[in-house]
Amino acid sequence: MDTQVFEKYESEVRSYCRNFPTVFTKSKGSVLTDENGKEYIDFFCGAGALNYGHNNDYIKSKIIDYLSSDGVAHALDMYTAAKREFIDYFQNEILKPRGFEYKIQFPGPTGTNAVEAALKLARKVKKRQNIWALMGAFHGMTLGALALTTDTASRGGAGVALHDVTHIPAPYMFPELDTVKYMQTLLDDDHSGIEKPAALVIETTQAEGGIYPLDNEWLKAAEAFCKKNDILFIVDDIQVGCGRGGGYFSFEEAGLNPDIVALSKSIGGYGMPFALTLLKPELDIWSPAEHNGTFRGNQLSIVAAKAGLEVFLNEKVEEKVREKEKILAAKMKEIEALDSRIATRGKAFIWGVDFSAFKEEPEISKAVLTVAFNAGLIVERVGRSNAVLKVMPELLIDEETLTKGLDILKDAIKAVI
Ligand SMILES: Cc1ncc(COP(=O)(O)O)c(C=O)c1O
Repeated sequence: MDTQVFEKYESEVRSYCRNFPTVFTKSKGSVLTDENGKEYIDFFCGAGALNYGHNNDYIKSKIIDYLSSDGVAHALDMYTAAKREFIDYFQNEILKPRGFEYKIQFPGPTGTNAVEAALKLARKVKKRQNIWALMGAFHGMTLGALALTTDTASRGGAGVALHDVTHIPAPYMFPELDTVKYMQTLLDDDHSGIEKPAALVIETTQAEGGIYPLDNEWLKAAEAFCKKNDILFIVDDIQVGCGRGGGYFSFEEAGLNPDIVALSKSIGGYGMPFALTLLKPELDIWSPAEHNGTFRGNQLSIVAAKAGLEVFLNEKVEEKVREKEKILAAKMKEIEALDSRIATRGKAFIWGVDFSAFKEEPEISKAVLTVAFNAGLIVERVGRSNAVLKVMPELLIDEETLTKGLDILKDAIKAVI
């Protein structure tokens, strides 16, 4: 496999390729194929950007039709027919049936940009600088979002102070601590030294933090705390939204109604670069062009995004996830039974296998990843010391491939431990 050109000319900043050292040429559904014709079941899913699989036929046909018809490819935020169709569909088929009322902002086409827009708007609306985020959070790599992100390695790359954020212990970190009460105390105690925030930003399941689904009761209490104290409640649904965490939005199950929602990754349907910041209409105090960007609302991504929403609804993805989640959950129990030091966590179609109780970590998780890769499975690591394997199949995966991938994972774990 010739990888010299990458090693010689591509920056050292490259990362995923180091765990999966082959050259891929094709992909379809749940399977990636490399130059030697070797197939890999993909449990990484473009870090959550490929919820409807690689090269989904329906979405592909819509993109090809649009290209063939010379549909406008680039339009900044000018009005286009494609954007009108997307907005209509998103409002009428996704938001309204779920009882949500949001205006849609099209930021630059990455998750971190959707978060930046949310932070800027929250600070502008509330006229406060501070933001609260949870320890274990990942919200992106641009400076505003990076100030919320907690992992030391990512923060180390900033090169400047990351400020105006207070980190609150995530509820799973100190089970005996009532973190909502703790937040209330920070506000009420005139000696806490912590500034009242414009917003609290959360992921309903911390993904990069190590697959920690936050309890519905905690989520509800955190939202109620924000409402009571005039703090905006922001959900970053970039990784666990679009069906991944159950429901279209991961927060539906807890009955939340966030003030601002950040979406990216699988909202692009086909792995296309796309992001949305959803905001309650009364928060829309932006001046024209106050948050800007040349590739906002990329038209091909808009076409793919609408087709992705159609796939979600027409293929009844929500029901399928609910059914197939049982296979995942059962296999996780089997994996846990292999060794008392293994813990598994997750919900819907995002699960983690945690090896942090092994004294040899991070060697164990890395070895499992490598054995699994050699056996034809792509699975990534997340969390503290990268000790958690993140299991994230596409939502439309057939049961046979799902079971095959999970068996490869289980065998790899057995082989390593
Ligand atoms: C929850 C969450 N927020 C934000 C981001 C940043 O998205 P992007 O890499 O597209 O900037 C990620 C990426 O992994 C994420 O998982």
